[in-house]
Amino acid sequence: MAELTLPENFFFGAAMSGPQTEGGWNVGGKLENVWDTWSNEDIEAFYNRVGSYVGNDFMHHYKEDLAILKGLGLDSFRTSIQWSRLLDADGNINPEGAAWYHELFRAAREEGLEPFVTLYHFDLPTFLFRRGGWESRETCEAYANYVEKALHEFGKEIRYWFTFNEPSVEPENRYWHGGWYPQHHSFREAVAAQYNISIAHALGVARYRAAREEGALRPDARIGIVCNFSPSYTKEDPSEADLEALRMNDGLTTRWWLDLATKGSLPADVLETLARLGTPVPARPGDEEVLRSGVVDWLGCNYYQPCRVQAPTRDHDEWGNPLFAEPYVWPERVMNESRGWEIYPKGIYDFGMKCRDEYPNLEWFVSENGIGIEGEYKNRDESGQIQDDYRVDFVRDHLSWIARAINDGAKCRGYHYWGLIDNWSWANAFKNRYGFVEVDLMENYERRPKKSAAWLKEVTTTHVVK
Ligand code: NOJ
Repeated sequence: MAELTLPENFFFGAAMSGPQTEGGWNVGGKLENVWDTWSNEDIEAFYNRVGSYVGNDFMHHYKEDLAILKGLGLDSFRTSIQWSRLLDADGNINPEGAAWYHELFRAAREEGLEPFVTLYHFDLPTFLFRRGGWESRETCEAYANYVEKALHEFGKEIRYWFTFNEPSVEPENRYWHGGWYPQHHSFREAVAAQYNISIAHALGVARYRAAREEGALRPDARIGIVCNFSPSYTKEDPSEADLEALRMNDGLTTRWWLDLATKGSLPADVLETLARLGTPVPARPGDEEVLRSGVVDWLGCNYYQPCRVQAPTRDHDEWGNPLFAEPYVWPERVMNESRGWEIYPKGIYDFGMKCRDEYPNLEWFVSENGIGIEGEYKNRDESGQIQDDYRVDFVRDHLSWIARAINDGAKCRGYHYWGLIDNWSWANAFKNRYGFVEVDLMENYERRPKKSAAWLKEVTTTHVVK
């Protein structure tokens, strides 16, 4: 691919989250969240029995890590505040928890790094989970209180706020596909959770607008939501049934959030199909008005892989859930075998074109993109450095398609690489490494640049993708 240039004001940064980096799961008055509880109850569920406790020890390494980001030419980073650290069980500020985040944001500013803050990254406090979690409307109200408290605490420090990270993932992984605690297999529960998270998002944005009116925020503040917008594709020569599978898959994972974030409503065709399948959303009178608050200033797009679907061969799965699509294996696909994810850089271009054509005023940025590799430690040269040319190829190809999308009118403002410094990845723990910088778990969490780090610095400082 020819050399391409990204705009001058295009920002580069790193994406991470509190529960995956901080550690200190039970210090300073922090409550248990669902990850801590799952680790305590069933450590075998985690790769190599590494639970949520230490992350990548960011609480002890944050100054060093911020200096690493700066040294690699980055200007920003996104992390999340942990609800379970910031608030106590009565919903009030935990001063020790708040002090840690004040210190982190102060240190970031000192390095000249702009902090982007996600308010929720898969980490529900356990006491709320036990009261029904995202299946219960009570959690939406508790979330709104949490958002209000966070905004008032950090409103003068933070410019970029995001209500949720990948809001479809918990409904899917916890309640439907059974991968994450509590490992249920109920599409009905997943629909309820996705709907309630949508209500919580809208309540959160409403609290944001109110805090703005009160003068509690920076005048240049913006609110957004970060979603895993994996474009959906079907066969090249689709049947009517394949197109129907595509409509519903795209509707539930992408249009749902795009409509909420830009129109303050949920796609009617998806709601109708859910009702027809016998899994309606748990709507209450007045909800349409609540959802109208959900319109945001801009979006984050996490992009790792495309989603390919075809018509299902059965009506129901083995748990009795309705099936509206099945995975489609594209014959030309290229795989990251260790993660089991397809590599398709053009997907980010297609997302950009969808926004350009269907949501013309929307600004967005790539809030996550990255490649996780198992067993990377085997790829060392004689000096011990990890030789990760595949990471350069992956990021170069994605940045190239982003540059092309911008040239063709996409309003993409920046790029955050996920897992710039290796971090803890939920049930997979440290199995797949994403970093440009290695974390050595055997050597006290020591940080060491991989070969790709020098390439990254060249791109972030020149904005030329080659
Ligand atoms: C997206 C999620 O936001 C993040 O938490 C996760 O670790 C990465 N994907 C990599 O799987």
